[in-house]
Amino acid sequence: MKIFKDCTEDQITQAAQALIDGHLVAFPTETVYGLGADASNASAVSRVYEVKGRPKDHPLIVHISSQNQMVHWTSQIPDYALKLARTFWPGPLTLILPRSDVAKDFITGGQQSVGLRVPDDPVALELINKFENFGGKGIAAPSANKFGAVSPTTAEAVKEELENDFDMNDIILDNGQCKIGIESTIIDCTKSIPRVVRSGTLTNEMIETIVLRKIEIIEANTSMKFPGSFKSHYAPKAKVKINSETFAGEGFIALSSIPTPSGAVRLISPLTMDDFAKDLYLAFRMADKLDIKVISVLIPNHGVMDAIKDRLQKASYGFK
Ligand code: TXA
Ligand code: MG
Repeated sequence: MKIFKDCTEDQITQAAQALIDGHLVAFPTETVYGLGADASNASAVSRVYEVKGRPKDHPLIVHISSQNQMVHWTSQIPDYALKLARTFWPGPLTLILPRSDVAKDFITGGQQSVGLRVPDDPVALELINKFENFGGKGIAAPSANKFGAVSPTTAEAVKEELENDFDMNDIILDNGQCKIGIESTIIDCTKSIPRVVRSGTLTNEMIETIVLRKIEIIEANTSMKFPGSFKSHYAPKAKVKINSETFAGEGFIALSSIPTPSGAVRLISPLTMDDFAKDLYLAFRMADKLDIKVISVLIPNHGVMDAIKDRLQKASYGFK
């Protein structure tokens, strides 16, 4: 495995070529790091599943350079989906659309839909553009972590998660810490009404303003294979508890205005909820490194993004 820290033009070209040649390239996005493979190459995509340890019926998001590339992958694009793409791409939004013949079962997990996203990170966009110039149609990329574990928000975290499974031709592109830090909002656009199936940093109001109708929010548990549709997901090894008493020796996560309870190990002190999201997964990883067994998280009652609540609930599943 090679790690490119400078992400020079030449290095990004090498990475695009590696994808064309069927190798894996982990790359930064504004949300979390992705584990990329040529979305048209069955054996490359199959390695993504092996490396992640992910069930094969769990579909992957295809990353494209702009909304103009949607036509390759979809058979039909509702007007509201086009509006969402125009407004929020590049950005932390994934659209689920009816698939075309280009989107094979090995990408969609056998479903009749495909997930598409244009990420907002200069390295990611340059990589996708070069890959498309070499004849590629899209880069399949789940978060670059083991199945069920915490998504990586730095290149070091990708290395820790996956280095034992990478081979000498695989590449990690390092562009520092992801600026958003939690996964994209996913909107199912296969029905007449858009449905949010994974919350992210785009609020429901932002989405409704664009689509000019009430959207549906679904709890993950339908027959569709949605992210974190397993109740426990995004979880560190440590147990996570929310808004309960903190004891000495436990890891502690709260806004900077809240003092650390005595004996607790402060993991992060975010000033804002945006910083809370950005640093949350780093804090989870830090706790595991310190061999902390319990992480106590305090979140305010108001002004917390749904995405943070969702990730904390999944991380803390089963813990009383
Ligand atoms: O922010 C993100 O979305 C990151 C970065 C790398 O782009 N990617 C990401 O991928 O979080 P992943 O695979 O960890 O989660 C994407 C989820 C999958 O769990 C899958 O359930 C859902 O998107 N998904 C993808 N294609 C789908 C489809 N055709 N139908 C339903 N769900 C789909
Ligand atoms: Mg993931």
